[in-house]
Amino acid sequence: MIKAIRGTRDLLPPETALWNFVEAAARDVFRAYNFQEIRTPIFEETQLFARSVGEETDIVSKEMYTWENRGRAQSEKGQSLTLRPENTAGVVRAYIEHKLWDRGLNKLYYIGPQFRRERPQKGRYRQFYQIGAEAIGPPSAGSESPARDAEMLEMLATFLDRLGITGWNLELNSVGCPNDRARCNEALRKALEPVVSKMCADCQRRAVTNPLRVFDCKVPEDQPIIEKLPRISQFLDEPCRTHFAEVQEILQAVGVPFRLNDRLVRGLDYYTRTAFEFTHGALGAQNAILGGGRYDGLSESLGGPQAPGIGFAIGEDRLVMSLKESAEAVARKPEVYIAPLGADMNREAARLARELRRHDLVVELGDESFRMKKSLETASKLGARYALIVGENEVKADAFGLKNLETGEQIPVPHHELAAKIQAGR
Ligand code: HAM
Repeated sequence: MIKAIRGTRDLLPPETALWNFVEAAARDVFRAYNFQEIRTPIFEETQLFARSVGEETDIVSKEMYTWENRGRAQSEKGQSLTLRPENTAGVVRAYIEHKLWDRGLNKLYYIGPQFRRERPQKGRYRQFYQIGAEAIGPPSAGSESPARDAEMLEMLATFLDRLGITGWNLELNSVGCPNDRARCNEALRKALEPVVSKMCADCQRRAVTNPLRVFDCKVPEDQPIIEKLPRISQFLDEPCRTHFAEVQEILQAVGVPFRLNDRLVRGLDYYTRTAFEFTHGALGAQNAILGGGRYDGLSESLGGPQAPGIGFAIGEDRLVMSLKESAEAVARKPEVYIAPLGADMNREAARLARELRRHDLVVELGDESFRMKKSLETASKLGARYALIVGENEVKADAFGLKNLETGEQIPVPHHELAAKIQAGR
């Protein structure tokens, strides 16, 4: 038997209703903040991710699905392609390619699959889904302002509250600008020199190439050493410090709670200044429901104009996991099951189904092969609220038997009152 490959999975009903519910809520909330949807390709040139996410990150150095293009055109031969491991790089590429700066500040959101070759475990998949957003534009459009950071964080708090997710924590840090990081990396190299030989192989490599990445380390034995290392917060210059203070002040003013975490450096290299994660205690080891931050130099590093930006991506798989208990409640079950009694009744039943669906009712249509008893059993199994009996006598009288499957009560309802009667039972 052929099965779905490791790290991928099928999303099945009724859980898919929960995915739709989450996505509809995201579209709704993001719209109120003037975000619009963007859809970028699922694969891009490998260089795009290497240059934005960073060669030294776990994502680029070991987790990407990469292959060589076999196109006919000369320009395609030998070209390296990669399934997107994240979507910020693609959005910034599109921003540059379509000169989106002509519109001022662009507020764009996306929903879609991402791919990373990570070790699968609870809450971690090789194909996973993100709901993300980016606010990017020229500095003249206010894209650099701490007001943008605070607005985005407030939007996320609103979204999680709207879904009824309680118990989230917003962890906040500033990773400064490249100069701050250079000074921090120098201090880290010095601090790591005498201890690095006792650390894991990844940290030994990071200590040379990009010491700040040491904070990504999850190896328990390395933690006491990491705990004593200097932090980026000690190296922020005056503008970065003021920017970060302003973000915090707006958050306090609008009542969004947060916790400062000076170990939070995020696993991607493009970040500058504000970096954040929302975590949730109920998720176990993979407890980050979402992560994001500012990336003020990313556009330039991809050959674009100056375009400060900030964004986030929610791990939709993890978000749905934290909502799963309510899956049954959210799934819209059939409100009425139409049971035609005999082959002659199929046409009338189809007409009624079409009519009721136009009234935004969820309708399941049976067929003549079921007898009354089997129809009612099927209707109950599907969780339908009513069964509608369509027999010869009913068609003649233009009134149909409507059976409430919870109470067992059955009453004849005139055709023109059917939709209202079923809706009233909601
Ligand atoms: P990230 O932290 O790599 O950031 O991913 C964001 C979220 O995606 C994580 O917090 C997690 O919920 C989810 N996630 C990541 N990997 C997996 C996986 N293997 N399985 C399930 N869920 C996963 C980014 O991707 C940035 N592009 C976010 C961003 C947007 N920063 C600025 N703009």
